[in-house]
Amino acid sequence: MTPSPDSIRPATGRLGILTPGLGAVATTFIAGVESIRRGLSKPIGSLTQMSTIRLGQRTQKRSPLIRDFVPLAGLDDIVFGAWDPIPDDAYASAKNAGVLEDAHLEPLKEFLQSIKPMPAVFDQHYVTRIHGTHVKTGKNKRDLAEQLRQDIRNFKAQHKCDRLVAVWCGSTEIFIEPSAVHATIESFEKGMADNHPDIAPSMLYAWACIMEGVPYNNGAPNLAVDTPALQALALREGVPISGKDFKTGQTWMKTVIAPALKARMLGLAGWYSTNILGNRDGEVLDDPASFKTKEASKLSVLHTILQPEMYPDLYEGFSHVVRINYYPPRGDNKEGWDNIDIVGWMGYPMQIKVNFLCRDSILAAPIVLDLALFSDLAHRAGMKGIQEWLSFYYKSPMAGAGLHPEHDLFIQQTKLKNTLRHLMGEEQITHLGLEYYP
Ligand SMILES: NC(=O)c1ccc[n+]([C@@H]2O[C@H](COP(=O)([O-])OP(=O)(O)OC[C@H]3O[C@@H](n4cnc5c(N)ncnc54)[C@H](O)[C@@H]3O)[C@@H](O)[C@H]2O)c1
Repeated sequence: MTPSPDSIRPATGRLGILTPGLGAVATTFIAGVESIRRGLSKPIGSLTQMSTIRLGQRTQKRSPLIRDFVPLAGLDDIVFGAWDPIPDDAYASAKNAGVLEDAHLEPLKEFLQSIKPMPAVFDQHYVTRIHGTHVKTGKNKRDLAEQLRQDIRNFKAQHKCDRLVAVWCGSTEIFIEPSAVHATIESFEKGMADNHPDIAPSMLYAWACIMEGVPYNNGAPNLAVDTPALQALALREGVPISGKDFKTGQTWMKTVIAPALKARMLGLAGWYSTNILGNRDGEVLDDPASFKTKEASKLSVLHTILQPEMYPDLYEGFSHVVRINYYPPRGDNKEGWDNIDIVGWMGYPMQIKVNFLCRDSILAAPIVLDLALFSDLAHRAGMKGIQEWLSFYYKSPMAGAGLHPEHDLFIQQTKLKNTLRHLMGEEQITHLGLEYYP
C-alpha cells in the first residue's frame, strides 16, 4: 500500500518502548528521555527531536522540524519496559554502567527505580560473559517465546498503552550463520519447538514481538530479525522491522570518510581501526564468539561503499583490520584510533589519522529514541517488513533479498528524509535547483 498523510493513524495514547536488555544503552536512553521531559536536558543527537526537513523549493523557505512535520508520539506519552537476565532496576543498572554522573542520575532515582526488568529469555551459550539469574524457564524455545508474548500483552494492559515498539539493547550474541531453520516461518517455528541451537534468544524476542504486532529494531549485530523466516513473518503480520547494530562511533566515521574518498576518486591501501572499551559490552565482546558477530558487522561497511569490483584501480585488495580491546579503566568512554592509508595522484601515498574519544551510550541513546518513534510512525502508516530508510542508524543495514545495503551516511540521510516527504505527500528533493532551469 502507498502511504498517504490521511492514512497514517494518529499518534494518540501511550507508546510503550520495550527494550530486551536494560544495560548501559537502555538506561542512558531512558534517563535521557525523562531528563528531557523534566526540562533538564536537550535531546541532542536525535533527528526526531531536533532536525528540520526542507520542503518544496529553496525559495519557499519551508523547513519545519521533523516532529512538527510527521505525526510522531510525544515524549510525554512514552512508557518504558525491559527484560534483562540481571534483576537490577534501571537506577541500579545505570549506576553500574557508569555512563551518567550522579548529578544527572540522582534527580531521576525514584523514576528509574520504578523500571524493573521482566525475567529474560537467556541462555549463556549465546552470551558467555553474562551470568543471568533473572531468567525464564520453559519446556522449549517455543514455550519461552510464548511467555514473552504474554509479557507483552500484560505490559500493554498494565500501562494502558495504545501501541508498543521494541528496540533490542541486549548483549551481542555469538556468531550464527543463517541456515535451513531460518529459511521459512514453518522451519523456524518447528525449530523453536525442537530447541534448535541456531535459534538464539534475540530471535525469540523478535518472533514474539512480530506476533504481537510490535515493530522490532535490532541494535546489536546478532541476526535476530535478519532471517528470511522472520522477514516473511513481519510481512505477513504487517509489522516494520529494522537492523542491525547501532551506528555510533568508529563505523559512523567510516561511513562519512569512505564516501568522501570515493567522491574524489582517491584510492585506499588500508584501514586499520582499533578501540579500547571498558564497559560490560566490551567485556562481552572480549569473547571471540561475540566479537566475531561484531567484526562481521564492522567489516562489511567499506567494501559496500567503495565497490572494489567497480573501481579496481582504487580499491582492489585494500586491507581492513578491526580490533576491540577490553580495557576496564575506560568504562563506557571508548577511545578509537583509525589509521587510513590513502592513495593520490600518480600513486602517492598519504595518511589520515582519526582519534575519536567518544561515549558509546551517549551516542547510542538518541538512536534508540529515533528508531522507536520512526518505527511506530512506520507501523501507523501501514509500512511493513524491512525499513531500509532507517539504515541511517545502523552499521550493518538490512536490505531486501538480492539487494546491497546502503552504507553511505549521506545517501542514507537523503533516503530517510525523502521517505518522510513521501509519507506526507511532499515532493522528493533532488537538489537539481530547478528554480533556475524552468
Ligand atoms: N553503545 C554503543 O555505541 C553501541 C553501538 C552499537 C551496538 N551496541 C550494542 O548494543 C547492545 C547494548 O550495549 P550496552 O552497552 O548497553 O551493553 P550492556 O552490556 O551494558 O547491556 C546489555 C544488557 O543486555 C542484557 N542481556 C543479555 N542477554 C539478554 C537477553 N537474552 N535478554 C535480555 N537482556 C539480555 C545484559 O544482561 C545487559 O544488562 C550491545 O549488543 C552492543 O553491542 C552498542
